[in-house]
Amino acid sequence: MKLIDLLMEKSPSAHYIRTTIRNSDKNWKDIGSGASASVWINKLDPDVAFKVIGGGDYDLNELNKSEKMCALAFVDFCVHEGTAAHPADVWRDHYPNILGINTDDPDVLQIKMETLKSIRPEKVVYDLDYLSRAVQRGETIEDIIEDNEALVKFIKKNKVNTMENLYKAVKHLIDSQGKYGKRHGIKLKMDLHGGNWLQRADGTIVAVDPWFGK
Ligand SMILES: Nc1ncnc2c1ncn2[C@@H]1O[C@H](COP(=O)(O)OP(=O)(O)O)[C@@H](O)[C@H]1O
Ligand SMILES: [Mg+2]
Repeated sequence: MKLIDLLMEKSPSAHYIRTTIRNSDKNWKDIGSGASASVWINKLDPDVAFKVIGGGDYDLNELNKSEKMCALAFVDFCVHEGTAAHPADVWRDHYPNILGINTDDPDVLQIKMETLKSIRPEKVVYDLDYLSRAVQRGETIEDIIEDNEALVKFIKKNKVNTMENLYKAVKHLIDSQGKYGKRHGIKLKMDLHGGNWLQRADGTIVAVDPWFGK
């Protein structure tokens, strides 16, 4: 069943969204939420995650247009700048694979994407926080590597991640804010704190929610 079929009410509350999804099918499971979104999997197909813009900490009527446009801008970015569009560039693996988007209900956007997992150990999450701020400050990759022994060590454990590729991926997000913001009528700012990085089953570190919009 499509999630859209479950969301009949206009401007439903976060609680309404959560209970409606849960009550519709016992196989829906909430796997995460932030300020604006709740993320669900169906236990029968757990590799596909549904990010519902609505059902996060804010009720839907408190979500402003820019939060929805920001989510749309990032989906647009992933489709055009991700590995699927540029298979030769491995650094683009640090963006999530988008499997579909449903905008039938303009109040409740649904983004279908690959399911990812949290980064462990927790300490690395804080180091990733630092990475995006350092790239934003214009620090060179050499400086970042020198200042970040723990992160470098974590990254070296797994050959799917390299500091160079992560740096490129973050830099390209920063450089693309203007273009994708303009396309969606908002001003984008970086919001790549530790909680907005997740990991694939193969260990690839993925930026899921890098921007906020104003
Ligand atoms: N593809 C995914 N797979 C698994 N969990 C996810 C996925 N996308 C997001 N999440 C979880 O849901 C949380 C909220 O999603 P996020 O995209 O950060 O939205 P928000 O704008 O509400 O912060 C994330 O912090 C993460 O824990
Ligand atoms: Mg987030």
